[in-house]
Amino acid sequence: MAALPAAAHEPITTKLTWTQEISRIFFKRCAGCHREGGAAPMALTTYDQVRPWAVAIKEEVLERRMPPWGAVKGFGEFRGDPSLSIAEMNWIVSWVEGGAPNGDEIYLPPLPPRAESGPPVEGLKPMRLKLITLPATLGVMVRAASIQPRDLPTGASMEVIAHRPDGSAEHLIWIRNYRAEWNRTYVFREPVRLPKGTRIEVHGTARASASLGVKP
Ligand code: HEC
Repeated sequence: MAALPAAAHEPITTKLTWTQEISRIFFKRCAGCHREGGAAPMALTTYDQVRPWAVAIKEEVLERRMPPWGAVKGFGEFRGDPSLSIAEMNWIVSWVEGGAPNGDEIYLPPLPPRAESGPPVEGLKPMRLKLITLPATLGVMVRAASIQPRDLPTGASMEVIAHRPDGSAEHLIWIRNYRAEWNRTYVFREPVRLPKGTRIEVHGTARASASLGVKP
């Protein structure tokens, strides 16, 4: 029993460990902000730092509040989306529920240098885009390259839905728990083709709006 960390009141029921699987996810997805001098209030780069937060981590991850991204996964596909994969989420949750064991130190990877552990910022090559203020009905066919929320109060949600003339509808983006400091231009993984006559609606607070960046 002496090998168990002092904090382990629950029995360890998982084979996942901090040193093998979990640190690798955290270094990639969390350490950009959760490190000494980072944007987050506490560092999460060592087992001793992470262990007291285990239950909060499980909640933040399950609610998809961390890593912060704003857009709900599955509604629009965007470049640089740092959201955890389902597998990564499952690993973190199983690890916490299984008693959050540390594991053998020899497996611990080195903490990557700051620049490599931030949320991936994929190249928004300077594109000359025409901006369309939403809601709007399109007078011509467009290829939408990006979308950015506007005039949303903190904590608000907003859904932008494109109703095509053929009757089909598609979420362009769904923003939940908006935070002004994390606002960004969301760049679609592939440009979204929207035919002439498409009606783009914005559901949310009364003043909520968005800019659609379209290729000329
Ligand atoms: C872009 C920066 C950023 C990234 C990346 C990030 N966080 Fe955070 N995190 C924050 C900030 C800032 C806070 C402080 C609370 C807030 O502002 O919402 C926070 C707060 C937290 C909290 C405390 C929530 C509470 O109970 O108050 C936990 C737990 C957490 N983060 C876990 C994680 C995990 C796990 C990851 C990676 C999977 C992660 N975070 C990635 C910025 C980030």
